[in-house]
Order: sequence, then C-alpha cells, then structure tokens
Amino acid sequence: MMTTLTDKEFELFKHLIYQQVGITLDVPKKTLLVSRLGKRLRELNLSSYQAYYDCVSGKGGEDELMKLLDLVSTNKTDFFREPGHFDFLRDQILPEVKSTRTLRIWSSASSSGEEPYTIAMTLSDAIADIKRWDIKILASDISTRVLAKAASGIYEEERVSQLPKDLVQRHFLCGKGAQAGKLQVRPQIAGLVAFRRINLMDPTFPIRSPLDVIFCRNVMIYFDRPTQGRLMEKFFRYLRPGGYLFIGHSESLQWIDHQFTYLRPTIYQKPVSVKSEA
Ligand SMILES: C[S@@+](CC[C@H](N)C(=O)[O-])C[C@H]1O[C@@H](n2cnc3c(N)ncnc32)[C@H](O)[C@@H]1O
Repeated sequence: MMTTLTDKEFELFKHLIYQQVGITLDVPKKTLLVSRLGKRLRELNLSSYQAYYDCVSGKGGEDELMKLLDLVSTNKTDFFREPGHFDFLRDQILPEVKSTRTLRIWSSASSSGEEPYTIAMTLSDAIADIKRWDIKILASDISTRVLAKAASGIYEEERVSQLPKDLVQRHFLCGKGAQAGKLQVRPQIAGLVAFRRINLMDPTFPIRSPLDVIFCRNVMIYFDRPTQGRLMEKFFRYLRPGGYLFIGHSESLQWIDHQFTYLRPTIYQKPVSVKSEA
C-alpha cells in the first residue's frame, strides 16, 4: 500500500532536519523525501510517516536520525573537483607558509574523502621535503556513512578514470584478488588526513590551533542565509589572520554579512590585521 506524506508530516521532517543539520527542505523536495523515506518505511515495516517521525525524533532514535540525515543530504563529490582551489593552494598559499613549514587545513564538508585526499596529493606533489613539514588536514562531515567510506580510502577505479595516470600511480595502490577494480589511497597521503564527525551547526568546533585554510564547498547551498551568516562568523574565528576560505562554485557570500576580504570568485581571506580568537 502507498503511504502518503501529508503536509503536516512534511513540516515536521522539515523542521527536524533544519534544526539538526541546517538543511532547508523546500516544497519541491517533498517528492525527494517521499522517494527516499518510503523505502526506509518499508524496511522498518512502518505504516506511516508520522510513525517514522516518532521513531527518529524520540528517545533512542539517534541512529535512525543519522540514517534520515544521510537520506536527505547530497554527498556528490570528486577528486580534483573545482581544480582552481588546489592550484591556489599550491601557488599562493604554500609559498606564504614555507618559512614555518606548518599547515593546518580543514575540509569541513568532506563527504567520502575525495576533497581532503586531493588536498594531501596536491601538497605531497608540491613539497619536496614534506617529511620535514608539520601538516594536518582535518576532514569532517555530518554523515558517519560517508566518513567511514572516506577513512577506508578505498575507491572504485572509475572514480579516478579522469585523472592523469602518473598521478594515480603515485598516490594509489591497486587492489588485488577480492579488491580488484578498486584503488586505495597510499599511506603517505592517508596519513596527512584525520577524519571526524563535526556538525557545522554546532556553536563551536573541536579545533585548537588557528587554521590556514578552510574548504567549505558545496554544502552552504543547502543552508538559508541566517545559517550561512552564522557559519561564516564561526569560520572567521577559527582562521588565522590572513587565512583563506574556499567555497563552492555555485555559492557566494554576496548576500550575507561577513568580515572576509573577497579575492576572486569562491576565494576569500581573513584580513591580516585581525587577531585570531580561536
Ligand atoms: C555535496 S557534498 C560536498 C563535498 C565536497 N565538499 C565537494 O565540494 O566536493 C556536501 C556534504 O555536506 C555534508 N553536510 C550537510 N550538512 C552538514 C552539516 N550540518 N555539517 C557537516 N556536514 C554537512 C553532507 O553530508 C555532504 O557529505
């Protein structure tokens, strides 16, 4: 039997999702919610969306809530997606930090790991004496499912089919036997990245030293303007003066209040004259 998602139930889910992860579901997303949640209802043998809502919002519903958040969020990503940011990192930022040989980077919506591993590969290729550097790339996401995939560092071969062959050979190990057709990020790349679950809606983040760079790409697009504004205030606090913020190609800070200096589309800088509060 087809179960209908009533307007009232849609509003309940919309509010819960906004409260938990800041994602705004507009009315056209109702169809998406129905198609994604319908399957879950059948798996759990529940007869209504209200019953599912009671399950995720009630006591002990944390695990199912995580599954719901996974169902509504989009994890699309790629190695070397929007490559201009990695060129900027190599050509502009690296020379600036060369004297300290220290780099702190946060990939704040890292999805299944392609973005932070691309950062690590870029640095590894650009820094000849990388073993003498102190580099930490923090990669985080709200979704434990994508974080587990990211931490494994294992990808289908087709995920890297567009990358230069020599780059793939340098940075990936080829799977054999049961792992044939898969590649694993080499330990020297994986060792630069630490994964953890962080919700960008949290008032503070578990980050101690001021950051040189924050990647926050292709997630703000799901947040409303007040939420984006609050996030920019937090990022501003955690960056060192002169630190950089990269956002996604379809995102902009144009309509929100912020203190960053605009450098070029999708690249912003915290002014050098501001003291870090992190
Ligand atoms: C489209 S992916 C972007 C991946 C990568 N940054 C890129 O540009 O290729 C968006 C990611 O944001 C994550 N996300 C959504 N809401 C979040 C939140 N409140 N806190 C942390 N991550 C969130 C999703 O789980 C998803 O993996």
